Amino acid sequence: MADRYLSLTGTAPGRFLTRRLGLPQPAALRRWSAEQPSLSGQLLHLTAGKSDLDLAPVLTGAGPEPGPERPVAVVLDATGVRGVEALAEVHAALHPALRSVAESGRIVVLGAPPDPADHHQAAVQQALEGFVRSLGKEIGRGRTVNLVRLTDARSAESTLRFLLSPRSAYVSGQVIEVGGGEVTAPEDWDRPLAGRTALVTGAARGIGEAVARTLARDGARVVCLDVPAAEAELTAVAGRLGGVALPLDITADDAGARIADALPGHLDVLVHNAGITRDRRLVNMPAERWSSVLDVNLASVLRTTDVLLSAGTLGAGGRIVATASIAGLAGNAGQTNYAASKAGIVGLVRSLGPRALAEYGVTVNAVAPGFIETRMTAAVPLFIREAGRRMNSLAQGGAPVDVAETTAWFASPGSGAVNGQVVRVCGQSLLGA
Ligand code: NAI
Repeated sequence: MADRYLSLTGTAPGRFLTRRLGLPQPAALRRWSAEQPSLSGQLLHLTAGKSDLDLAPVLTGAGPEPGPERPVAVVLDATGVRGVEALAEVHAALHPALRSVAESGRIVVLGAPPDPADHHQAAVQQALEGFVRSLGKEIGRGRTVNLVRLTDARSAESTLRFLLSPRSAYVSGQVIEVGGGEVTAPEDWDRPLAGRTALVTGAARGIGEAVARTLARDGARVVCLDVPAAEAELTAVAGRLGGVALPLDITADDAGARIADALPGHLDVLVHNAGITRDRRLVNMPAERWSSVLDVNLASVLRTTDVLLSAGTLGAGGRIVATASIAGLAGNAGQTNYAASKAGIVGLVRSLGPRALAEYGVTVNAVAPGFIETRMTAAVPLFIREAGRRMNSLAQGGAPVDVAETTAWFASPGSGAVNGQVVRVCGQSLLGA
């Protein structure tokens, strides 16, 4: 379903009219394309407090292509901010730079993990979170603001490359913790998944199709899974990507074993994307609507994950990416079943992440999409759909590829230190934390 309002505000008269009426002003987002894979402009490296991070070698590769004079990427290293007085340096560093940051520019603030033994450091590092979330809400013009908590620069390279690129166009207001875990820098950052096998559930259409396409772009051999009823679409998707189609209902008792059988050997990346909604307020919800949603969105994710981990199908360097939703974080009327299933994904990721990394060398993370333009959201009634589109800092819905790019960042061999994270791909939706 085309976003006609976004098209309108892309014209001069439309912009004039909507500004006069005080309506939201979405900017056309700059996403990845083969012709323009990087942002182009200046990189501004700022520091607040006294930092020990050796960022320069990492920023050399992670930064934008040299281009116009204006900064398009700003990195503020605030890891050394330990007391309230040093917070003034955050203001002093960013305040003069903001006006010149280009459209679709990226601001990344680097923080340190809050120190449980030092409440002054913990207070000001937490202060950065409120700062980043507020700046994200006010900055506009397709610009994003995110906070990365890290302990060393190298292990955060994949994250900085992602956040400072067009790939993170719809990710704003997020706090990402990076640390622990082994990091293998890919030989080629443009094809980090070369030689790896990825399985994507729900790959016949929508977000799953975009995930399969994006992982294939990054070099992966893709196995595309969807229900047998979608076999025609599924085979077409797999065929276009040079991958394999696996028609299978993920809720089948033996789904894990059948996935393992269908694979050429081991699996490097497992993306749990298949999901359904069966909305009804709880008072009107028959048990079947409850159980079908819980079964597809949560129980099958738990079952197949357990089978593939314990069988050794996913091993050292493996990546699991599950799909939550902002409804699972904020709650949504009519979606008690769906929100319960998606909040369950968050619990799974937080609990299994540290253990799977220690026991199997596998990271476990989740994407939490906001309003993404797919068949699922095209079915939402008009006014609720318009509210979903506009009520976020970027004043528009996301594209399936935005969720796919975030998944690809989690899946990268360079992201071994990104674990147990739930990252919202929601343009900083007003719903949820
Ligand atoms: P979609 O409905 O367009 O695609 C979902 C795919 O999963 C379909 O191809 C479907 O056949 C497949 N699927 C459903 N049940 C299955 C089963 N038992 N076994 C195998 N495959 C099955 O949905 P969309 O929008 O692409 O969503 C993908 C994921 O993202 C879902 O988990 C959804 O809950 C989540 N999500 C989507 C949002 C959005 O705005 N579109 C927002 C938040 C989360």
